[in-house]
Parts: sequence; structure tokens; C-alpha cells
Amino acid sequence: MSSKQRGEIAGDLYLNRGASDAAHRCDVNLQLGTFDLAAALADALCLGPGKNLVDIGCGSGQLLARMADRLSPGGYARGFDVAADAVESTRNLGLRAEVADAAEIPVEASFADALSCIFAIYYHDDLDAALSEFARVLKPGGRLAVAGPASDTNRELYEFHRRATGAEPSDADRMAWGYVEENVREAVERAGFDSVEVAVHTNRIEFSEPLSFLEYWKATSLFARTPGATYEAGLNQISNQTGPMIVTKRVSILTARRILED
Ligand SMILES: C[S@@+](CC[C@H](N)C(=O)[O-])C[C@H]1O[C@@H](n2cnc3c(N)ncnc32)[C@H](O)[C@@H]1O
Repeated sequence: MSSKQRGEIAGDLYLNRGASDAAHRCDVNLQLGTFDLAAALADALCLGPGKNLVDIGCGSGQLLARMADRLSPGGYARGFDVAADAVESTRNLGLRAEVADAAEIPVEASFADALSCIFAIYYHDDLDAALSEFARVLKPGGRLAVAGPASDTNRELYEFHRRATGAEPSDADRMAWGYVEENVREAVERAGFDSVEVAVHTNRIEFSEPLSFLEYWKATSLFARTPGATYEAGLNQISNQTGPMIVTKRVSILTARRILED
């Protein structure tokens, strides 16, 4: 997929549609999932009182709010996103947030102790430019965490979608699968990071109510980008389901350290 298409997909999914679908998905992952992504990120980023955290592609801000809990007293978080709607949603949670692109973050060099970019890096049209900017913003020795879906994520959700609509996942979904482990690892080393590690975590989500699963499906880009996807098609499909609906998410978290010397 060309870099231009990545930017166009981000525009379609986030600039044109607003932050509410992303907020709904984030709520489900945080509330129904077995894996505490915010805590894992906070640990990986060595967050603690007095530290400054920058989050790129902060979306609706729920994850950032959880990570920010670790920073007081004395520290604070700043979120950045290309979508004004996401920035407003993050500010409504009482956090600092501004509209900015990952390749041009409006903070001084060596501002941050930690920088996160969660489920967002693959939308950027120039990976090297974004990672160089992350290196500029971080203090020497500062911690980076980049997360995204692993290649074997969401199998039950995609199977449900196929059965309900006859459609395969779109390019917008496929482009993210495995991107962190396949593309970001080498690129962060080029950008001035060391101690690079990638860990894959399982987040098992159990929907005890069929309708809560359908609301989740409706909030995914799968649904948004499939012309034949309707709520009724989902209802028909879910009526065959006995027992709770399970979705197994696999999340890759890359961590790295900004090299000490310039
Ligand atoms: C899937 S959401 C993830 C939100 C949040 N990090 C989370 O995990 O809940 C992706 C976010 O990245 C933002 N985004 C896409 N391209 C971006 C870019 N070039 N610079 C900054 N943000 C970007 C989108 O607007 C969207 O809010």
C-alpha cells in the first residue's frame, strides 16, 4: 500500500467520521478485555511521578487518561492528533491535547521522558519522518512505546464479518496487521533508538450480550467500509450464536530507548 493511501485511510476513518466509534472500541477493549493495555504501556514507558508523557494519535483520550494517572504529582501528559474531534474528546477528559501531525509535534526537543503511539503509527504516510520526530521530542534515554494489532488478531470478528456480509476485511484493516513487528522494529533503530523489543499480548474480550457485540462490530472500520454491512445482517448472523461471543485480540507492543548520545 502506498504512503498516500495510508494517509487517505486515516482521513476517511478519523477526520471525516469523528472520534465516537474509536471511543466505543477503546471502552470495550479497556472494560471487557482481560489484558490491561494502559498498565502494560505505563510499565514499558517507566511512567512515574514527575515524568512528562507525549502521546501521538491520542484518539478519544481514554488510554492516555489511564497512563496519565501514573504521572502525578509533578508530571503531565500531552496528547496530539490530526483530528480536531479527537483532541476535543481528550480535552474533555481534563487532559492537555493539540491538533498536530506525528511528523511535526509542536514541543521543544528533548521535552518528553516517554512517548507513546498506540494503534496509530500505520496511518502515517512517512514512517521514518514520524520516528525521527519521536526521537527529537524524547530526552536521551527516554522511552518509546508503539503498539498495534499483531498479524493474528481478531480472527473471530473477521469470521463473523465474513458470515454476516460475505465481505473480506478491507485494506484499512489489513494494513495494520503485523505492521509494528514487520515495519517499525528496523525503522526505530534507523531513527536513533536502541534496546528495541517487541512483545505480543493476548486480550480476550467476552461479550455476554449479543447486542453489545453487535454495537462493537458496528463501531469497527470493517463495518464502516463494507457497503453491504447492515445491523440487520449482523442480527441474523448473531441469532445462530449460542453462548457468549469471544474476540481474541493480539496486541504488539514495541518498546525502545532513545539513544543517549546525539
Ligand atoms: C485507532 S485511533 C487510536 C487512538 C488511541 N491511541 C487509542 O489507542 O485508543 C488512531 C488515531 O490516530 C490518529 N492519526 C492518524 N494519522 C495521524 C497522524 N499522521 N498524526 C497524528 N495522529 C494521527 C487518528 O486521527 C486517530 O485518532
